[in-house]
Amino acid sequence: MLRFTLLWLLVFLFASISSSSARPAPYAMRISCGARQNIRTPPTYTRWYKDFAYTGGIPANATAPSHITPPLKTLRYFPLSEGPENCYIINRVPKGHYSVRIFFGLVEHEIDNEPLFEVSVEGTIIHSLKSGWSKNDEQVFAEALVFLLDGSVSICFHSTGHGDPAIISIEILQIDERAYYFGPGWGRGVILKTTSRLTCGTSKPKFDEDYSGDHWGGDRFWHPIRTFGKNADAPRSTESGIKKASTVPNFYPEALYQSAVVSTDSKPDLAYTMDVDPNKNYSIWLHFAEIDATITSAGKRVFDVLINGDTFFENVDVVGMSGDRYTALVLNTTVALSGRTLTITLHPKKGNHAILTAIEVFQVIVAESKTSPEEVRALQSLKKSLGLPNRFGWNGDPCVPKEHPWSGADCHFDKSGRKWFIDGLGLDNQGLRGSLTNEISKLHHLQSINLSGNSIHGAIPSSLGAVTSLEILDLSYNFLNGSIPESLGKLTALRRLNLNGNSLSGRVPSALGGRLLNGASFNFTDNHGLCGIPGLPKCGPHLSAGAKVGIAFAVFLSLVLLVICSICWWKRRQNILRAQQIAAASRSAPYAKSRTQSSHDIQMSRNPSRGRTASENGPSLLS
Ligand SMILES: *[C@@H]1O[C@H](CO)[C@@H](O)[C@H](O)[C@H]1NC(C)=O
Ligand SMILES: *[C@@H]1O[C@H](CO)[C@@H](O)[C@H](O)[C@H]1NC(C)=O
Ligand SMILES: *[C@@H]1O[C@H](CO)[C@@H](O)[C@H](O)[C@H]1NC(C)=O
Ligand SMILES: *[C@@H]1O[C@H](CO)[C@@H](O)[C@H](O)[C@H]1NC(C)=O
Ligand SMILES: *[C@@H]1O[C@H](CO)[C@@H](O)[C@H](O)[C@H]1NC(C)=O
Ligand SMILES: *[C@@H]1O[C@H](CO)[C@@H](O)[C@H](O)[C@H]1NC(C)=O
Repeated sequence: MLRFTLLWLLVFLFASISSSSARPAPYAMRISCGARQNIRTPPTYTRWYKDFAYTGGIPANATAPSHITPPLKTLRYFPLSEGPENCYIINRVPKGHYSVRIFFGLVEHEIDNEPLFEVSVEGTIIHSLKSGWSKNDEQVFAEALVFLLDGSVSICFHSTGHGDPAIISIEILQIDERAYYFGPGWGRGVILKTTSRLTCGTSKPKFDEDYSGDHWGGDRFWHPIRTFGKNADAPRSTESGIKKASTVPNFYPEALYQSAVVSTDSKPDLAYTMDVDPNKNYSIWLHFAEIDATITSAGKRVFDVLINGDTFFENVDVVGMSGDRYTALVLNTTVALSGRTLTITLHPKKGNHAILTAIEVFQVIVAESKTSPEEVRALQSLKKSLGLPNRFGWNGDPCVPKEHPWSGADCHFDKSGRKWFIDGLGLDNQGLRGSLTNEISKLHHLQSINLSGNSIHGAIPSSLGAVTSLEILDLSYNFLNGSIPESLGKLTALRRLNLNGNSLSGRVPSALGGRLLNGASFNFTDNHGLCGIPGLPKCGPHLSAGAKVGIAFAVFLSLVLLVICSICWWKRRQNILRAQQIAAASRSAPYAKSRTQSSHDIQMSRNPSRGRTASENGPSLLS
């Protein structure tokens, strides 16, 4: 009995120890683009991986407006010749909630060449670079909070015709599962794109403020703003500790709350205005802590918070709501904005002055659904077998972002399955020199294929007959050879079939020939030797496979007979000659007779064998 209790005590102790121990460090992947080796940057000795194995593009030195200290010195840029879409695919990322951050750069000595492009994460655009970004600290990077559930993440850069996308770094930092939970509407299908993150009343660069905080906060960058306008407010700061900072789920650093702005007598309202994209939803987070020594208790400072003139929080009393002075208070709300500006106003009701510590603004983006992975794989292998030129790119997802689909692939959204699939391939006149493989039949939803006017060679894959939704198949003007597979007869939806201008031969499947009457338009002209339907030559006698084997066997047999006969004839002729020689020799020297005979024997045994080897090797080399 005692032993039993002890055992339970041990189990209990062990359980309580393991549950009370701090949770493991969050997953973090940091990539220094274009770097030739891994790098560690002080003061935290953060490790940045080189990107040697990740992707295409060209490594170069950067003129870095990089806020990583000391700055990363290299970048990778993607000229248009590598295609309009270029991606980093990072594998083995544990399922979870992440802050994904990308720094942009300028290629060294090309400072006037500011590229404008778009950035997508998992097929959803999270950022469009705006002209002038390289001169604005808040715009040299893009950050988004995303759920990554596939075990990998694709980050793509989409050219918009304004220069080559150039990337300094990529960070994938795990954050709390419920970080920035804002209420209903928040969740896996939603991405929060960081629009602005300001720390008020300080001019210290706070780009590394979170590094000394809890890493589950996502190592945020806080852009310092000392004042909202001349004489509009006064900065406040304190060295005192702040209570209730660094709590789940957002782990805000304590240092954040040690500075603030307070409005002045001349301008009691505290107001901050920023530019936003119109017709989007925004999640707004406001931070407060009463660090002003003159406010000693609840009720002494009370204000309303207005967003674009509408009251969102009434009677905010920082001390009253947080429970104490020097205590963090976070308020969040979501708002739909139709205009291009966002103004946050703190309007005092008691105490004449308002106080504000920090502002975070996120754009709420609904994540795109992706293309079915099987179809993406099929397209990737078609890209290889057809020999698609580099300029096509074909990286990332074929259908999303919707603004940047792969050229040549038509997409359709299946509402019930919430997936994209490919319903058309239009790669006519693109100089393709490869062949068609069975992979094409994995695109089950194809309705139309046009590969007309290329240099595609080889046979038409018979698996094409499995793509039953196919209505249009145009393979005209290529170098296709062999016969038309019988399976194409199974394509009952086929309305247009253009196989003209190839090197096809043999009988047109009767299931296709019969369909001509039904108003469908099929073209088989200009081929080597198609036959069997009206308008084409008659086919020769139709032979079954068995008959063909029979004929081949008979031909082979007669060849063998012919060879045997000639050998016999030759041997016989040699024997006669030899007999004549022996007769002649026996009349002269017996010694010479035996030598002639033995050398002759050797020749006899080698010659036919050499001949046989050659005829065996010949066909086997050719086949
Ligand atoms: C980049 O800079 C290093 C020195 O910092 C230099 O050795 C290297 O040649 C430069 N590379 C290019 C592509 O300019
Ligand atoms: C944000 O505000 C909502 C209510 O508007 C609240 O339910 C939610 O807990 C808040 N989020 C955090 C992380 O405090
Ligand atoms: C904003 O949110 C509302 C309610 O959640 C939604 O109906 C609307 O479509 C959203 N607007 C945009 C632009 O996402
Ligand atoms: C396929 O493309 C060619 C060349 O662009 C065009 O002439 C032809 O009409 C297309 N085929 C079909 C069936 O639309
Ligand atoms: C088709 O052409 C290829 C070369 O492109 C050749 O290897 C193959 O034997 C040809 N097939 C037939 C059935 O003629
Ligand atoms: C079939 O293709 C040939 C060219 O190969 C063209 O001359 C002819 O008009 C086409 N027939 C039909 C019915 O489209």
